[in-house]
Formats: sequence, C-alpha cells, structure tokens
Amino acid sequence: MVVDKFLTHVGIIMDGNGRWARSHGLQRIEGHKAAEKAIHDAVEYCGEMGVEYLTLYAFSTENWKRPKAEVIFIMTLLKSFIKRNIDDLDRNRVRIRASGRIDDLPSGPLSELRNAMTRTGSNKGLNLILALSYGGRAEITDAMRTIAGDIETGRIQTSDITEESISSRMYLPDVPDPDIIIRTSGEQRLSNFLLWESAYSELYFTDVLWPDFRREHLEEAFEDYRLRRRRFGDIDSGR
Ligand code: IPE
Ligand code: IPE
Ligand code: MG
Repeated sequence: MVVDKFLTHVGIIMDGNGRWARSHGLQRIEGHKAAEKAIHDAVEYCGEMGVEYLTLYAFSTENWKRPKAEVIFIMTLLKSFIKRNIDDLDRNRVRIRASGRIDDLPSGPLSELRNAMTRTGSNKGLNLILALSYGGRAEITDAMRTIAGDIETGRIQTSDITEESISSRMYLPDVPDPDIIIRTSGEQRLSNFLLWESAYSELYFTDVLWPDFRREHLEEAFEDYRLRRRRFGDIDSGR
C-alpha cells in the first residue's frame, strides 16, 4: 500500500441522510443509521492514505432546531456508534477528538464521548475529530469571548490581537486548517462548518448522498484535489 502524505487534514460535511432515506421509502432516522458504513470507509481510507486529521461534521449548532425526536435519535445513535466502534478504533490507533459546544450534548452521549477521548488520547494514528454541536460562528464567538476575558484580566492588550492569537483560541488550535472540505448530497455551501479555518481550503462537492459514500468516492475527491493548484494568494510558481 502506498502511503501518500499529500493531504494532512480532510473535512467532510456528511449530508443527505434524510434524502437517502426518503429515496428508499424509509424514515429519516434510517438514513442516519445507514451513515455508519460511510464513516467506516472514510476513517479506513484516510488512515491508509496517511491523512493525519479527519473532521466529520456530525451535528451543527443549527441542527438543534430539528424535531425533538430526530435530535434524540441522533444523540442516541452517537452514543451507540462510539460503543460499537471504540474497540476497533482504539486497536487501529485512532485518536477520537471533538470540536464544538459539546457541553450542550445530553449526558449519556457526552460521557461516552469523553471516555472515548480519554481512552484514545495517546493514540498516534488518525485524529478523528467529531464536530458536534459545532458552528463556525459559535467557535469564532467563543474565541472572541476568551480574548475579551484575556484583555479584561490584563493577560493581553488589544494590540496583541492577531490572526495567530485568534487561531490559538479556536477549539482545536493544534489542528492545521483543512486542505479539502468535501460535501455530499449536492448542496454547495458550508452551512457554518469551519468558517475561520476554511479560508484557503479546497472545496469539493459531490451529488452522492452520505450513506452511499464509499472509499471510491473519497478516492475521486483526493484525485481531484491532487490536480488543483493552491496558491494562497501568491503567484503560481509551478507552471
Ligand atoms: C446530514 O443529513 C446529517 C445531519 C445534518 C445530522 P441530513 O439529515 O441533513 O439529510 P438531508 O440533508 O435532510 O437529506
Ligand atoms: C450540515 O448539514 C450539517 C451537518 C452535516 C452536520 P445540514 O443539512 O444541517 O445543512 P443545511 O441546513 O442543508 O444547510
Ligand atoms: Mg442536510
């Protein structure tokens, strides 16, 4: 197997579970259940490709607006997903992390998540980051509050506010910005995902619905990424 280090951080907006369910004549929740196989493929393939960080957008700050029964189902599924997969993930040296206002999660899934993070905390393989109760604007807002607090207590001055000092107050400051953000299901928007960190991310959209997304689709996305020229505002020195 060729381990290719060309991608460090992959972000995925896992969208289309509800439409997948409808297209199969099923309830929306069946779509969320069917998403697990796609997550397995993504974790496995990213691990094989030497990706260091995989961020999966699993639940947004706006998703709390959904019908209560669906929210409860997703939260219950989160807990059972971790329970079912923690042994395998740990064996594969995956480090489970979370990004978002996770204290807003119900206590059951939250404690399962915290246990998983503690158990896998020193693993050196893929960082699997679950974006839960995550919103880009919430993250920036929380960083601003931290900065205001640091100014109030005299730790920093207004002139110390820089892009770096803001970045260092994001939820996971050690994680590099995503190289690519993939969104399934044909929608072409970020829906509040990694707003600060995606400034120079390559965006890749596919019509495939998340429960149908398999390693060959990820391969296609990575191949597409490989052909892109990232300039970061500079001139293109390659061609
Ligand atoms: C993504 O699928 C999962 C979450 C947002 C939790 P959706 O539930 O948004 O599926 P669609 O977009 O309605 O098809
Ligand atoms: C984005 O999907 C959030 C996640 C995939 C977790 P949504 O389905 O919530 O986004 P919108 O509402 O179509 O923008
Ligand atoms: Mg959706």
